Amino acid sequence: MKITGVSGRMILDSRGVPTVEATVRTEKGAASAGVPAGTSTGRHEAKELRDGGDRWNGQGVRQAVSHVNVEISHALQGMDATDQAAIDAKLTELDKSKKPGLGANALLAVSVATFLAAARGKRKEPWQMLGGESPGASQRGPKGIPVPMLNLINGGAHAKNGLEIQEFMVVPLGFDTFSEALRAATETYHALGTILDERNLGTGVGLEGGFAPQVGNHHDALDLLVQAIERAKYRPGEQIGLALDVAATELYKEGAYKLAGQTMQSEQLAIEYESLLRQYPIVSIEDPFAEDDWDGWAAAPERVKTGRIADDLTVTDAKRIKRAAGSGATGVIIKPNQQGTLTAATAAVAAARAADLTVIASHRSGETTDHWIADLAVGWEAEYIKAGAPARGERVAKYDRLLAIEQEFGSQAVYRGPGLAAGKEAAPRGTDG
Ligand code: PGA
Ligand code: ZN
Repeated sequence: MKITGVSGRMILDSRGVPTVEATVRTEKGAASAGVPAGTSTGRHEAKELRDGGDRWNGQGVRQAVSHVNVEISHALQGMDATDQAAIDAKLTELDKSKKPGLGANALLAVSVATFLAAARGKRKEPWQMLGGESPGASQRGPKGIPVPMLNLINGGAHAKNGLEIQEFMVVPLGFDTFSEALRAATETYHALGTILDERNLGTGVGLEGGFAPQVGNHHDALDLLVQAIERAKYRPGEQIGLALDVAATELYKEGAYKLAGQTMQSEQLAIEYESLLRQYPIVSIEDPFAEDDWDGWAAAPERVKTGRIADDLTVTDAKRIKRAAGSGATGVIIKPNQQGTLTAATAAVAAARAADLTVIASHRSGETTDHWIADLAVGWEAEYIKAGAPARGERVAKYDRLLAIEQEFGSQAVYRGPGLAAGKEAAPRGTDG
């Protein structure tokens, strides 16, 4: 399936910031893909190319788009769109041939657009392109739908509300189907909106569509989530667990963590988590320690007895994932734009599987309305997917795509929730601890 054309353009992401979209044409059809971008990015992520200067406050992508239209377009002409590994190797080679690189944003747009064009040409759904070959496929069964982790309260770099922890999520594990789980989480989101409105705490939202209330601290936010779950008539811990993304790199300044007016070392922070785990049904904590605090991570299992999820620590990098598995992580976030090619992201999934880590496919805070991450999550057989609140177009696009895939699977669809709840690493804890 020969590539006959590649073109790129600037589009806006959900924050109103430029990003790159690419279209790949083959003899058998064309497809486009836009790339997301992070706000609280990790130091070890692949670098997206931004123009700098005054236009778009320095966030322009003229150069990255030009790389798609010129260098990449020339190099990919005539290549086989179904040979993802060769396409991604070529993209990586081009990226390395130029200082400072073509940009992870340029690369990923083309990498994913090629994947989608190949699927279209083969008349397959994108998730099917990974099925069977994806790591662990045989044991896990190919018709799994990941558990959504829905970010209902935004803080940190995603909201200007004073909450230091970035994400307060609900995790609807105790349901038989994805659609029922999504309904429960969404009813909880609406119940939370009602509670915030009644208490005049503000119903404005942050970058990922979660509410950004003016509350004092993370205890208040967690209390609100428990109250919202109950108000929606679900059982906290049993049906719907809680999860945090602390994004602790953002709290780490000059060798110490700043939280709740205190300056603390990783040990004290671990004690704070231990206390939260006693009070709330928290099934996982993402980035509990900073991106290079390997000692903090390694000591975590002693006190932080819940899912310990690496994001900035591992940045979808197979090598760092391997190291994280020996340093206290129980799961990893997989964000394709942290590496720039689909092949690298799939290698990261394989590294996670080899190390027995839970896989969480993830969006970014700056998103497009594309939903290819949902297909990747299904194809990779991810246990979880993070796609923000069940509101706003760029977030619901992913959940809505999973609803369509669930329908397509019909009676063979397996919602991973109950299985995970029974498993070791992410079992919801009762509110009584
Ligand atoms: P980001 O946040 O997309 O702004 O990096 C998401 C996350 O930290 O998981
Ligand atoms: Zn994160």
